[in-house]
Amino acid sequence: MTHVVCEPCVDCKNTICVTVCPVECFHEDDNILYIDPDVCIDCGACLPECPVDAIYLEEDLPEKWKHYTALNKDKSRTTPVISEQKEPLGPGTPKS
Ligand code: F3S
Repeated sequence: MTHVVCEPCVDCKNTICVTVCPVECFHEDDNILYIDPDVCIDCGACLPECPVDAIYLEEDLPEKWKHYTALNKDKSRTTPVISEQKEPLGPGTPKS
């Protein structure tokens, strides 16, 4: 099991999530973050922090975002770790 970053993060990258992660499992791409499933310890600390609800426990992923599990795993292999908060790109998709 792991946690997964999904579509609402795209063009938002709030990055508050990385400040609460105890194991530095977040990786950064141009417009989204990914979680390395081999590093994530499923503590769940990041989940309530994301202002746009982009982070899900793998088993709770909405059907339309299931493919983000493989995307997070694959992309976290080739993107750098991010462990410090940065200026957000934008508002993302607001919580409904
Ligand atoms: Fe993205 Fe939410 Fe983190 S928008 S960068 S998953 S706080």
